[in-house]
Amino acid sequence: RRLAAAADVADLRAVARRRTPRAVFDYTDGGAGEELSLARNQAAFRRIEFRPSVLRDVSSVDTSASLLGEVSALPIALAPTGFTRMMHHEGETAVARAAADHGVPYTLSTMGTTAAGPLAAAVPGVRRWFQLYLWRDRSRSRDLVLSAAEAGYEALMLTVDTPVAGPRLRDVRNGMTIPPALTARTLLDGALRPWWWMNLLTTPPLEFASLSQWQGTAADLGNLMFDPGATAEDVAWLREVWPGRLIIKGVQTAEDARVMAGLGVDALVVSNHGGRQLDRAPVPLEELPAVVRAVDGAVEVYLDGGVRSGADAVAAVCLGATAVLVGRAYLYGLMAGGEAGVRRVLDILSTEVRQTMQLLGATSVKDLTPDRVRLRAG
Ligand code: FNR
Repeated sequence: RRLAAAADVADLRAVARRRTPRAVFDYTDGGAGEELSLARNQAAFRRIEFRPSVLRDVSSVDTSASLLGEVSALPIALAPTGFTRMMHHEGETAVARAAADHGVPYTLSTMGTTAAGPLAAAVPGVRRWFQLYLWRDRSRSRDLVLSAAEAGYEALMLTVDTPVAGPRLRDVRNGMTIPPALTARTLLDGALRPWWWMNLLTTPPLEFASLSQWQGTAADLGNLMFDPGATAEDVAWLREVWPGRLIIKGVQTAEDARVMAGLGVDALVVSNHGGRQLDRAPVPLEELPAVVRAVDGAVEVYLDGGVRSGADAVAAVCLGATAVLVGRAYLYGLMAGGEAGVRRVLDILSTEVRQTMQLLGATSVKDLTPDRVRLRAG
């Protein structure tokens, strides 16, 4: 009932906040440092002004987009997010099921709490991509990549904005650990949200990256794993190890985009990791036009950060993105109501994309061109 009454993603965020322990909600909702990039990512979309064409017969609209040569029902894919079973015990499987039903790709994170093989077995119908963090131990990266290839993942998404973990101050203030530790504070929280805690304690323990016995902060875990020594040569190595499509996620300037497009990859994601890594990093929506010019059609360009509505997705496509990735938007749905909550988010985004296109006078994503938007000054 609560889900049906949610009119937009912000309403679902409010439900998520009530239903999830404070430290888990903050881990998901928060960003790095003073959260300036986090706020700016969303504020940038508010600067969009649409320029509609009228009397265009929009009685039938095709919202689909071609991503990596295959059709997606929307110009949207689900971004990789770590520890998804902590947001809701059904985790990655619930998200992938909703993605399959809506015909959009799902990206499983290296920090996922369901492994690549079991996820593919549970949801064979989903179009699946696998996100990779380069481990200090390259043989571990190779094992992960090979298991994803074996399980039918069509694309590998290498995240490059994470040489070290970003400063997540909300996590420090909340004493956040993964998995959550039982302390006086979490026990009090448990009394307020018994369902969440019962679900966590009665399902198999969170298991990620073969570190099932591990407990610590997300930042400690990241710094243990991530290789700050990674370079463009590692991309060449991956190109040899990985047989499928290759995407680089976390490109933040047009200069880097030009270099990355020359590395034999299929797509780039303009991203500041949802404002979770370098605070004050460039805002993807503002950097997008320069990136699109720099790569000049050599690779597909995706964008993420701050997408909370179908209108945001349409705006990014107008500015040259092939698609957007959404992160927090689907996690709010997951925290609000498991698989049904993610479905509700995708229903909302899908309706908003269609409606925005109709009101703009666009009948396919080909009509979403730069002349359809203007960025207002403030
Ligand atoms: C992320 N993101 C992320 N990215 C990645 O490459 N690997 C990962 O494991 C994670 N984990 C993760 C956890 C959580 C809780 C969030 C919110 C985000 C970043 C994610 O893929 C994406 O770049 C951002 O979420 C996009 O911004 P929005 O849509 O959340 O504003």
